[in-house]
Amino acid sequence: MEDHSTFPRFLIILFITGVARSVASIGINYGQIANNLPSSDDAVELVKSIGATKVKLYDADPNVLKAFANTGVEVMVGLGNEYLTKMKDPKQAQAWIKANLQPYLPATKITSIFVGNEVLTFNDTSLTSNLLPAMQSVHTALVNQGLDKQITVTTTHSLAVLETSYPPSAGAFRPDLAPCLGPILSFQAKTGSPFLINAYPYFAYKANPKQVPLEFVLFQPNQGMVDPSSNLHYDNMLFAQIDAVYSALESLGYAKLPVHISETGWPSKGDQDEAGANLENAKKYNGNLIKMAMSTSKKGTPCRPNSDFNIYVFALFNENMKPGPTSERNYGLFKPDGTPAYPLGFSLASAPNDIVHNNTGTPPTSSTGYLSISSASSLERCRLLGPSLSFLLPLNQKKDTGARQWGEEQWQNEKGVKGVPSSLHAMSLYWSRKEKWLWSSGTS
Ligand SMILES: *[C@@H]1O[C@H](CO)[C@@H](O)[C@H](O)[C@H]1NC(C)=O
Ligand SMILES: *[C@@H]1O[C@H](CO)[C@@H](O)[C@H](O)[C@H]1NC(C)=O
Repeated sequence: MEDHSTFPRFLIILFITGVARSVASIGINYGQIANNLPSSDDAVELVKSIGATKVKLYDADPNVLKAFANTGVEVMVGLGNEYLTKMKDPKQAQAWIKANLQPYLPATKITSIFVGNEVLTFNDTSLTSNLLPAMQSVHTALVNQGLDKQITVTTTHSLAVLETSYPPSAGAFRPDLAPCLGPILSFQAKTGSPFLINAYPYFAYKANPKQVPLEFVLFQPNQGMVDPSSNLHYDNMLFAQIDAVYSALESLGYAKLPVHISETGWPSKGDQDEAGANLENAKKYNGNLIKMAMSTSKKGTPCRPNSDFNIYVFALFNENMKPGPTSERNYGLFKPDGTPAYPLGFSLASAPNDIVHNNTGTPPTSSTGYLSISSASSLERCRLLGPSLSFLLPLNQKKDTGARQWGEEQWQNEKGVKGVPSSLHAMSLYWSRKEKWLWSSGTS
């Protein structure tokens, strides 16, 4: 810990000179499939109270865009799958941007548009064939409006785009998707937008609670596993999933495309048959995840140690109108009345050296991981630096034979049992279907 004392000043200099490689930040998904949510102004305060600096919307709700004006929070807006046909037409794309985004710029810091949600895993050929043209014409419209430097165009994928996800070094896309993915990746590489993946270790656990160690999915101390080909050590499943995506991208020639996690989370409640969906696990998953994302002492994944770790937690609120099992309505960090669904379990004030603050009052304190609403605005002046990562294992356990054996068994299972999805595949078909339903019930 002692050698952290020089960190804050060092970082401030980096921020000022604009060459910071890694900035602690966390994003959150703001879904609104509910009839009991607080106002978007209240939502803004809640977003700030967890220290989030980025928010992802599933639409371009004018009230929400207005509420985030002059907050400094970066906003990603969504164009649902039902828009793809329309957006293929450059004139329509231009009209949409003029009507739905431009009125809120630059006060609202819109930095990205995701066009289509998990399109490729619906196996809907007309939807799939419209994806790239829609992304292209939205981008062209941004170019025409002089907005392409500040707003990137991307799309989100389910982890089910992967045929192989374990071990991470063997990560590969479904072969049937490669022909349409290639041109999309090429477009993204040219225009400089990140590859977005929705990754839920929860689904892997739920599908196979007897074989997937809970500690491994919840970022708790555990022996982890070793990738038998790369020899890299993994102590949590999310990193293994992200690196599987990096490997898949690399095999198509896009090793440099950054991977961002557009959704990840854990439900605090579920049905009897939904293993692991409970308050304690949700608190551990999201608490540890946010703590890690806010930390600058651990940067990327084993495969990309120098890349920023970019995540959007799913989700801000429990959404009472989502269909499906109970877990679906219980992913929120907050209840509709604005109170935390559970404490996040870490203290923003526990390590004073880790927080750079320059406000006249006391630094924001919280033993729950949430800042009180009244102190939330001081967050803009604060950076959370390197909280204790003692829950992570020392990497010298890389040679641990137990971990290796476990990893190899998983690898054998994956290779040996044809037709059975890998227990490490986070996304179920069910999830894709649910999203399809959600997106066809679209907005504005
Ligand atoms: C889509 O196609 C793939 C490959 O053929 C198949 O494994 C998957 O089950 C299909 N998904 C859906 C949602 O039908
Ligand atoms: C804090 O802010 C004050 C006034 O804005 C400034 O004079 C001072 O140098 C700052 N201190 C630090 C540690 O940045």
